[in-house]
Amino acid sequence: MATDTASTEAAGAPHDGEYTDALIGLLETLWGEGYLSPGGAEEVARVLAGLDLAGRTVLDIGCGSGGITLALAADHGAARVVGIDVEGPVLEKARARAEARGLADRVAFRRVSPGPLPFADESFDVVFSKDAMIHIPDKEALFRDVFRVLRPGGWLAASDWLIRHDGEPSPEMKHYVAMEGLSFGMASPARYRRALEAAGFADIALTDRNPWYREVARAELAQLEGPLYERAVAAAGKKTVDHNIGTWRAMLAVLETGEHCPHHLRARKPG
Ligand SMILES: C[S@@+](CC[C@H](N)C(=O)[O-])C[C@H]1O[C@@H](n2cnc3c(N)ncnc32)[C@H](O)[C@@H]1O
Repeated sequence: MATDTASTEAAGAPHDGEYTDALIGLLETLWGEGYLSPGGAEEVARVLAGLDLAGRTVLDIGCGSGGITLALAADHGAARVVGIDVEGPVLEKARARAEARGLADRVAFRRVSPGPLPFADESFDVVFSKDAMIHIPDKEALFRDVFRVLRPGGWLAASDWLIRHDGEPSPEMKHYVAMEGLSFGMASPARYRRALEAAGFADIALTDRNPWYREVARAELAQLEGPLYERAVAAAGKKTVDHNIGTWRAMLAVLETGEHCPHHLRARKPG
């Protein structure tokens, strides 16, 4: 790992069972069935804005419980989508959704180990990812590998959760990451850009989504504390919901300062 990767990795190396049924239940109550990240179909459309997936082969890194992976085929016209994830329970849900929606012939879900992508060079037209690369600390190796599996002329289109700087995280950030209890390997927009450039990408664009998510997260917390509370408890249990109300408060603090800065990423493999 590069030495400038300051330690938001306090929670340790990625391990199985981070996205438990309770956490999946809570996140899907907030964000919609099959969605383990914010913004729903509209935010996915914004990540993909101007990119035509019709007839394309797409890799979805960190597909979670599959709502977005299926939407890439059903709503965005991708010919074939492969969703990969490191955890079993989310993939079980994703596969069941693909069967139920009659999309299993166009969308495949595959469990992978953290590390190199298990695909041949130039396998995909588009690599997509939504709020999952945060779990992969070695951004340089990740983008080299994404570049490798893309066909010449192919695009990376992603959203991810970044930290504003690569120095020591603030006490508030450390508190937030500890509350999440997930293996976060956050890095700055500057480090993402350098890693994309070093991998060989062109037309690199990073778009700060902090102003958007700061507003959305405030509304999510209000929902969780109010109208959604009982539904969330039914889906996830009181302990998980009460803990996550604390997590959302901690997250809002670092969204307000701008230290937590989700971004959209776009880059093209020349050719
Ligand atoms: C916040 S969820 C997002 C899921 C989905 N993209 C969405 O937006 O609904 C992050 C996902 O990344 C997965 N993940 C963590 N480390 C990974 C890795 N090294 N490779 C692929 N997926 C990983 C987690 O298991 C989890 O399902």
